[in-house]
Amino acid sequence: METVIDCIKSRRSIRCFKPDMISKDIIEKIVVAGKFAATGMNRQSPIIIAVTNKEVRDKLSKLNAEIMGRDIDPFYGAPVVLIVLADKNAPTHIYDGSLVMGNLMLAAHELGVGSCWIHRAKEEFERPEGLEILKSLGIEGEYEGIGHCVLGYVDGEYPKAAPRKSNWIYFID
Ligand SMILES: Cc1cc2nc3c(=O)[nH]c(=O)nc-3n(C[C@H](O)[C@H](O)[C@H](O)COP(=O)(O)O)c2cc1C
Repeated sequence: METVIDCIKSRRSIRCFKPDMISKDIIEKIVVAGKFAATGMNRQSPIIIAVTNKEVRDKLSKLNAEIMGRDIDPFYGAPVVLIVLADKNAPTHIYDGSLVMGNLMLAAHELGVGSCWIHRAKEEFERPEGLEILKSLGIEGEYEGIGHCVLGYVDGEYPKAAPRKSNWIYFID
């Protein structure tokens, strides 16, 4: 990967993963990239929960599928799930958490790891099962689920970017 811009342009959402686990060393590099995202007034409102435990990963997948109302694995077989939540008391918490998600996906891509943003974290962490996970980690406070960044090695061909719409950018010179 040559530059950040190359990385941004070539990253795609992956929806088919090998079951192979990612090493702790690589996961740590990815979450550290999340930790250095900009946040409103440097409040650092987000937190990241890195799940590699298969039982917890499967429980989250089931919960997410239930919220979606479909009997599938919404994590596409990815072995690692990074959950981003953010402190609701920070007025910029959704923006803060979303930027963390962006950093995670880009860092993963630079390191040769596939990723996809999976939604419904908000609903998940409003449910007793989600709240129980926070409690088990001793996380106190009012956190809103922002997204799951699922990680794994890409199974199959790397997807191509959809064409960009024509009215993305306007210049005022
Ligand atoms: C807020 C948000 C929520 C998303 N939720 C899901 C999801 O639940 N499942 C999924 O497969 N992809 C999800 N995606 C990925 C988008 O579908 C994907 O980014 C989009 O199709 C563009 O593809 P690209 O990431 O390869 O450029 C989400 C992306 C964002 C930004």
